[in-house]
Amino acid sequence: MERGIIGNAGNAGNVGNTGIIGNAGGCGNPLNAETTRRVIAFSPPDITEEDIAEVAQALRSGWITTGPRTKLFEERLAHYADAQKVACLGSATAALECALRALGVGPGDEVITSAYTYTASCSVICHVGAIPILCDTAPGSYEMDYAALEGLVTERTRAVIPVDIAGRMCDYDRIFAALDRKKELWKPTNGFQAHFDRVIVLADAAHSFGARYQGLHCGSVADFTAFSFHAVKNLTTGEGGALAWRKGSFAREADSEAFYRQVMLCSLHGQTKDALAKSQGASWEYDIAFPGWKCNMTDIQAALGLSQLNHYQEALERRQAIVLRYEEGLAGLDVSTLAHAGEGFLSSGHLMLVRLNGKDEAFRNAVIGLLAERGVASNVHYKPLPLLSAYQGLGFAMDDFPHAYAQYRNEISLPLHTLLSDEDVDYVVASLRQAITQLESDGLPLCEAQPPQDMP
Ligand SMILES: Cc1ncc(COP(=O)(O)O)c(C=O)c1O
Repeated sequence: MERGIIGNAGNAGNVGNTGIIGNAGGCGNPLNAETTRRVIAFSPPDITEEDIAEVAQALRSGWITTGPRTKLFEERLAHYADAQKVACLGSATAALECALRALGVGPGDEVITSAYTYTASCSVICHVGAIPILCDTAPGSYEMDYAALEGLVTERTRAVIPVDIAGRMCDYDRIFAALDRKKELWKPTNGFQAHFDRVIVLADAAHSFGARYQGLHCGSVADFTAFSFHAVKNLTTGEGGALAWRKGSFAREADSEAFYRQVMLCSLHGQTKDALAKSQGASWEYDIAFPGWKCNMTDIQAALGLSQLNHYQEALERRQAIVLRYEEGLAGLDVSTLAHAGEGFLSSGHLMLVRLNGKDEAFRNAVIGLLAERGVASNVHYKPLPLLSAYQGLGFAMDDFPHAYAQYRNEISLPLHTLLSDEDVDYVVASLRQAITQLESDGLPLCEAQPPQDMP
């Protein structure tokens, strides 16, 4: 299979193809000039010639918006994830938001999510007019504190949005157990909510398509699961996302279909027929059930997704191999890595999260600067929500989420993608080792580097 980066990755952190160019150097911080310099992108898309051919076929087919390829992609995704049904949408953000809207979550309701996530997990709660309730992480963990979760549930809580950071699924058994203990507070306010006897679990699985939990596929564990197919994700449609629900979320097939129709209405202006249905014979006439939104997936996107799905298993395996190589390479360094495989779980290998033990933000940011000088793009996942202006404006303060802050202050995300060679991984490890050693012996540079600000 021929591989390569075609065009732009659509992200500030992606600085082009992985390769070898020139020598190291930089503003007063030369690293080992003997090592040949490489340029290592953070998360470029892996687009094959087959992918391009599929997209070209869609373009030539005469149907480019939502149509047969999108419907086929939904079926293939549902089969892959062992889900009851999948609805394709314009992004994971749209999937989360359409789920909340279809479930009738709105003003006066509360929705709980993690303080340690990307803004999308929480902004959708604000979009529907509900009140976001943030949960701190457990000490030393990227996942929300399940022991604290129970105490946050009130009569107004309609949903919890756990976040599968880096592609490792949350502990859904503990989440369901916590919500089961609060069942007496659950009072459904919408017909779809009435299918559940406790607060609804809507997984933010933007990173975890393809992950496993207790042998189950991501998409078949939480009540609802939102996937992202954004440019930097493991499987990409450029921009795109999908909402899955597990077998059993709706006991009757008819209810599952009704929910699907509601999500489709939300995604297409509340219009009772999509463009394809309207184009069949004389069936032009439609109604608008409510003034809805516009976040459907196109057949061009679906064509890319269908093709990517054909080689996704291979990509997942390569990602796990890269994680192993990183773990072996980093073993001698005073760092902690997030486990991607273990008893009862296998992640999608989306992000290589590393914590520089005992270090602070200034040290971490200086490491990012030195890596950049070495041609290695790195990142931070995530700046906790209470550090961001929007959430401070809503009254959240970082001091109230000490464990999330502790995770963030020395976290650095290393490149993890299928265009990396083993030698690239070794180069990143060597560069990290050199950066840490240099900063520990010389102290922080005066021209302290800033971390990237605009990467999801
Ligand atoms: C944890 C998390 N949730 C949601 C999203 C939003 O995904 P999308 O860009 O598909 O809306 C992202 C994007 O990176 C993310 O990292």
